Amino acid sequence: MNEPIQKRLKNKFSALPKWAEDFSIEANQDKNVSRRDFIRFLSLVSFGLLTGTAGVFLKSFYKSDSAPVSGVKILGANEIAVGESRSFTIPGKREPGIAVRLNENTYVAYGQKCTHLQCPVLWSKDAGKLVCPCHNGAFAVEDGRVLYGPPERPLPQLDVAVQSDGVYFLGVKSGSLT
Ligand code: FES
Repeated sequence: MNEPIQKRLKNKFSALPKWAEDFSIEANQDKNVSRRDFIRFLSLVSFGLLTGTAGVFLKSFYKSDSAPVSGVKILGANEIAVGESRSFTIPGKREPGIAVRLNENTYVAYGQKCTHLQCPVLWSKDAGKLVCPCHNGAFAVEDGRVLYGPPERPLPQLDVAVQSDGVYFLGVKSGSLT
């Protein structure tokens, strides 16, 4: 009974049946292999999830320690034209911000992560608002309030100051960075 299936079939039939060539694993072995593969797959997925969760936790823990650094230049003088925007890294936070030049001497800046699910918001010059392409959300450029879409909180507004040599980040004006 422990003979390989091919040998047993050859003893029974004159030629090995076609199905036996294609499926040369015995049914009980097939179940064992499947169970082993399934357990291996589960182990790998569990390990991946555990590693990913630990990574996200450590990253958020690391980030929460850092505070925004005031007085850092984020844009050079006239680096962007009126009506244009530029993304930048919020000093000390490793988080993206977005600055928009509203007129010659007025700049506004916000944390660039959407308050819904953290997609980056983009400046739409034509529409005159900050839009989130992920789920069609939008924020007012004047103060970051929600105009429409799924976000429930305004964008965190950043305090900036215009100097002769550029635009400086001063801190978080309202809301909180993640
Ligand atoms: S992530 Fe911005 S609307 Fe959903």
